[in-house]
Amino acid sequence: MGWMTWERYTCTTDCSGEGAKRCINEQLLKDMADRLVEDGFRDAGYAQISIDDCWPAKERDASGRQTPDPNRFPSGMASIGDYLHEKQLKFGIYSDIGSSTCAGYTGLKGNFDLDAQTFASWGVDYIKVDGCNENTADMFNDYPAFGKALNSTGRPIVYSCSWPAYMAHRCEGSDKCMASLVEHCNLWRNFDDVADGWASVSSIINFWKRNSSSDEMVQAGGPGHWNDPDMLMVGNFGLSESEEQTQFALWAIFAAPLFLSTDLRTISESSKAILLNKEIIAVNQDQLGKQGYCFSGCSSDLRVWIRELENGDAAIVMQNAGNFGDGSNITFHPSLVKWLPKNGNFNVRDMYAQKDLGTITGPLTFYVHVSSVRMFRLSASPSEGNLAVVV
Ligand code: GLA
Repeated sequence: MGWMTWERYTCTTDCSGEGAKRCINEQLLKDMADRLVEDGFRDAGYAQISIDDCWPAKERDASGRQTPDPNRFPSGMASIGDYLHEKQLKFGIYSDIGSSTCAGYTGLKGNFDLDAQTFASWGVDYIKVDGCNENTADMFNDYPAFGKALNSTGRPIVYSCSWPAYMAHRCEGSDKCMASLVEHCNLWRNFDDVADGWASVSSIINFWKRNSSSDEMVQAGGPGHWNDPDMLMVGNFGLSESEEQTQFALWAIFAAPLFLSTDLRTISESSKAILLNKEIIAVNQDQLGKQGYCFSGCSSDLRVWIRELENGDAAIVMQNAGNFGDGSNITFHPSLVKWLPKNGNFNVRDMYAQKDLGTITGPLTFYVHVSSVRMFRLSASPSEGNLAVVV
């Protein structure tokens, strides 16, 4: 969990005039670090600042090392690492497994060991390694090899691989790279870049809409190795409040990394409330580490998503993906879930309303507005159900 430059600030390198507040430079990272700490984000779990593309100088230095753009990072990267660590934040950086990054800056190719050591010497805790400017056949060797270079530094560095995003079947099935990702990477970008609008977010949701816990992609996610559907757009311009709630609820079901990419200096109170919902964060961070999936209605607009949680709990998201009219009832049948106790009673907690609703024994029906979700936590209860509701 943390904050990442890319979607909101892209490759803005002109820091003159108004650009001063939006360009990729050390001030932006420090401003966001301050906001994470002072506005309660860090304590809620968002404890990392990740710089994405466009930080390096166009050339390596005289000793062949990577070096940041001197105008935008005059204090150097080690000093940013210190600033973040003093605030109990982690430092994330970005590079590319090929000869250059997607935006044309220096890549890792030919320098895996030197670059891993350089990043470790800056106090880097996390690296996203993109896959532009490398052919996909070479990725089978390159991604594991750079992971070994990171391990050889002796510094624990979380390794994010964008490998599947470049493969025809996203490393599944005939691509035959999912097992290698699980072995060599800590997380990976499976799919297209998120953008600030519902069409983008819903295309990602549809890619994640697997209808079984035994699906290859769902199975691949787990502690130490996660599928990454890309950044949260909560707090930006393109999503309505109910769409922001939908993205946040489903990223919790997906066991997804939670990266903000928004201006924390000006974020609205309603977006902040979504991002700081501790109960939904707890679902996202659940220690069992199982990725959820689409349970029913998956080929329709009225879907139920489910994620198995520790202590036998379950998180349920009822999603109305329709966009016409007011809304519809959606029903969830706990007795059809293999891993829930048969004929059990469950306490129902409404996670956006933050209210206990009562106990159910049988099916659970709720009214869900179009383009919206409702999210519930079910926990086993000793008492009989008293709730069979449409609320
Ligand atoms: C690719 C990645 C994005 C971002 C850009 C940077 O498009 O998928 O997340 O890192 O490159 O250029």
